[in-house]
Amino acid sequence: MKHLFATLALAAATAQAAEPVKINIQADQPGPVIARQIYGQFGEHLGAGIYEGLWVGTDSKIPNVRGWRTDVVTALKALKVPVLRWPGGCFADEYHWRDGIGPQAQRPPRVNTSWGGVIEPNSVGTHEFMDLADQLGTEVYINANLGSGTVAEMAQWLEYLTAEGDTALARERRANGRDKPWRIQYWGIGNESWGCGGHMKPSYYADQYKQWATFAKAPRGNRPKLVASGGQELELHWTETLSAEIKDRMAAITHHQYSLPTRDWKKKGSAVNFPESEWISTLAVPQTIDGYLAKHREILDRNDPAKKVAIYFDEWGSWYDPEPGTDPGFLVQRNTLRDAVLSALHFHVFHRHADRVKMANIAQMVNVLQAVVITDKERMVLTPTYHAFAMHLPFMDATSLPVQLSGVPDYTLGKYSIPALSASAAKAADGKLILSLSNTNPNQPLPLQLAVGGKGVRAVSGQLLTAATMDAQNWYDAPDRVKPQPFKAEAKGGVLALNVPAKSVLVLEVQP
Ligand code: AHR
Repeated sequence: MKHLFATLALAAATAQAAEPVKINIQADQPGPVIARQIYGQFGEHLGAGIYEGLWVGTDSKIPNVRGWRTDVVTALKALKVPVLRWPGGCFADEYHWRDGIGPQAQRPPRVNTSWGGVIEPNSVGTHEFMDLADQLGTEVYINANLGSGTVAEMAQWLEYLTAEGDTALARERRANGRDKPWRIQYWGIGNESWGCGGHMKPSYYADQYKQWATFAKAPRGNRPKLVASGGQELELHWTETLSAEIKDRMAAITHHQYSLPTRDWKKKGSAVNFPESEWISTLAVPQTIDGYLAKHREILDRNDPAKKVAIYFDEWGSWYDPEPGTDPGFLVQRNTLRDAVLSALHFHVFHRHADRVKMANIAQMVNVLQAVVITDKERMVLTPTYHAFAMHLPFMDATSLPVQLSGVPDYTLGKYSIPALSASAAKAADGKLILSLSNTNPNQPLPLQLAVGGKGVRAVSGQLLTAATMDAQNWYDAPDRVKPQPFKAEAKGGVLALNVPAKSVLVLEVQP
């Protein structure tokens, strides 16, 4: 039976080979720059996302620099993390910054009521987080507590971080070991204010936001960009209200959309051993996001034609049923080839909307949901998602280029149908022509012919990420099961033809 299936698949692939997809990069029609912040990360006080996964404390046997584990920080540095959002998520709306400053022994333990009801020791607070950001060389995006904090508390936190002169808060910061003000690039006012951040209506949130934004002050030249919480699951009315009422006071409105295979929060679907129907349903989500982004852009183009308000996507990624045997409040899940393909599809969508989408943050960086790194005590694994991020490094700050595709077949199963090929091209910051491709079909390779400006291409080289099965994963006993492999192709008779393997991500440098 297996043999018959293989034969049929081969026959289909051969039949398809007669009709290659044509792809033409329009290198002479540069689009917007792809903000490197689209490759941002998110780390929340949730499960082992911060504690254990990143912070082990200065007394740990696990090698660390001032408490932050060296192996994980080194791996993340290789991703050139452009921006890191912290401390949540839902946790942000119950976080009180004063709990996390001063001598460690005197910090008050609290209950993390959002995630598992565990003790939050407050060992990681402002100074520790800013040290992590320094070690990573990343911009910082702090999410302030609108849900259960006060305007004064938020204003004082920002003053503590940025005050230059001899104020009481600057003195306190100095006494705690930091002389110079920090640079804070982004400041979120509330998180999911429609839900865990306070169950607000958009008009109520808009009023709250106006008040809070008024007091989010910092010295000239060090004012963070203010970020407003977006509506539930890309809801349009929220964007309509905010862009009409507070557009002059926000740098961006930020959205969240998770990819649940079943779309059912009670039974989301398994991270491994899933049926093909859940491969396609998961990979269909970025297409939905694409459609919604177009609608949000229409609203913003009407209310903010000068394009002062950006769209951020500060939480995205897969969300599966928790790993059996783990605390469901810790959001532990495995990460497979499906997650790598899902990442590439998100990147392509964000690139496509790069004139408005200026930041995106995967949820989350370590050990939580679609993590790029997974740890267990002193061990660490780089997930397929990590490799998808690494392969797309050249797209940071690249200039997007339109891609003409013809003959792309649909990949259809049950009620879902998505294009079998997703593509995105750009001119990298170093001038190289780069192309990212993903074959979403797990069963059939996709032959294609590549041109630039309608002319043939000499060669391509780059990296291919694929695996034997849809749910192939890296684990401690097989950390390199899903790992990029070198890929090359050269033109023959003036035609550059290549086969994009089934269920793969391919990032290429194109030599015209
Ligand atoms: O990333 C996990 C949670 O998902 C975040 O805390 C929240 O903002 C979202 O609902």
